[in-house]
Amino acid sequence: MQGPPDPRERLLGLFGAGGEPSFVEAPGRVNLIGEHIDYHNLAVLPVALDRRIRVAFRARSDARISAVSAEYGSREFEWTAQLAPVARGDWENYLRAAAQAVAGRWGSGKGVDAVVDSRLPAAAGLSSSSALLVAFTLALLEANGLEASFTELMEILPAGEQFVGTRGGGMDHAASLESRAGCASLVEFAPLSVRPIPVPEGWGFLVAHSLQTAEKSGSAREEYNLRRAGGTTALARLGFASYREALPVALDAALRLQRGPERDAFLHVTSEALRVRAAVAAMESDDAVVFGRLLLESHASLRDQLRVSCPALNQLVEAAMESGALGARLTGAGFGGCVVVLCRAEDRQAVRRGLVDRFYAGRAGFDERIHLMDVRPAPGALHLEKK
Ligand code: GLA
Repeated sequence: MQGPPDPRERLLGLFGAGGEPSFVEAPGRVNLIGEHIDYHNLAVLPVALDRRIRVAFRARSDARISAVSAEYGSREFEWTAQLAPVARGDWENYLRAAAQAVAGRWGSGKGVDAVVDSRLPAAAGLSSSSALLVAFTLALLEANGLEASFTELMEILPAGEQFVGTRGGGMDHAASLESRAGCASLVEFAPLSVRPIPVPEGWGFLVAHSLQTAEKSGSAREEYNLRRAGGTTALARLGFASYREALPVALDAALRLQRGPERDAFLHVTSEALRVRAAVAAMESDDAVVFGRLLLESHASLRDQLRVSCPALNQLVEAAMESGALGARLTGAGFGGCVVVLCRAEDRQAVRRGLVDRFYAGRAGFDERIHLMDVRPAPGALHLEKK
């Protein structure tokens, strides 16, 4: 997982001497609250992690894209204006998605030789795939002397990811690009905006992995797309143009829906949107107790209404609460992956130890450095110091 110490040497070793390599990095994110609602254009509250995807690259004179990852192997393809996906689940799809996203706006250009390193666990709900898409897109732009604003990137990136088959929203890309150190990001859509919300000093967030992966490009993808479709159908049935329009009258409106997955999705989406508002207010007024309660309510809604949790995630939430946390919930798309835990900063070690004793003890494959991380709210790719 740990990247090699010198990606420059690695690039020169793999691709031969030549021009000096450039570097771009894009962080993963943990979503604090606002789950399964970004694709309905409702506000969410993620934090960028200090774990990133890093790309060392050098422009080529032809249009070939050649990338090597210690974890996932080497890939090479010709950058043409119209690229098709390769086999489902193959990491080349993210490289292709980046190339396609850039080509759709600026046309295809010079290819790159690239070395890709990740310090983010894959399929953990921490957006390693979006971070890869963001980093590789920035590399292709830079290799071609192009500069894109945050807004322009947000116009091409979420749509680019649909190339891989997940009809996700824009939360992951916004967090990976635009986050500020020490802050959560209140991301709003239509119109797009990102407001940094400082995380109070006395708060501690942890991310704990359930040890079950949720392949976004694989089996979890149909389930994810079904949740999105359920919420969209419910909205259409009720005759609203948007969820924002539905919010003020959501409870009455839900009575007009038949019991079942569509109504449940509608109830989750509308209640989660209100929890995001309340969570921002709690963070701004340094009320960790209220924020923790909102995390638990969000988890219950994701578990019981949207049904995207699993036993390991539920056990982790319980273990966190028994260990002195103020709140916890599954984060990301669900179906495995991670939970985010809030505790008082001074209780962080005790909660970590409690999670190890109550949840991880005796589970095969647990590595504390990978599966249990302290959240240090980090800057996004557009605010990182250029190396
Ligand atoms: C995935 C998607 C995001 C978001 C979350 C669920 O991470 O990429 O856009 O929809 O699931 O909140």
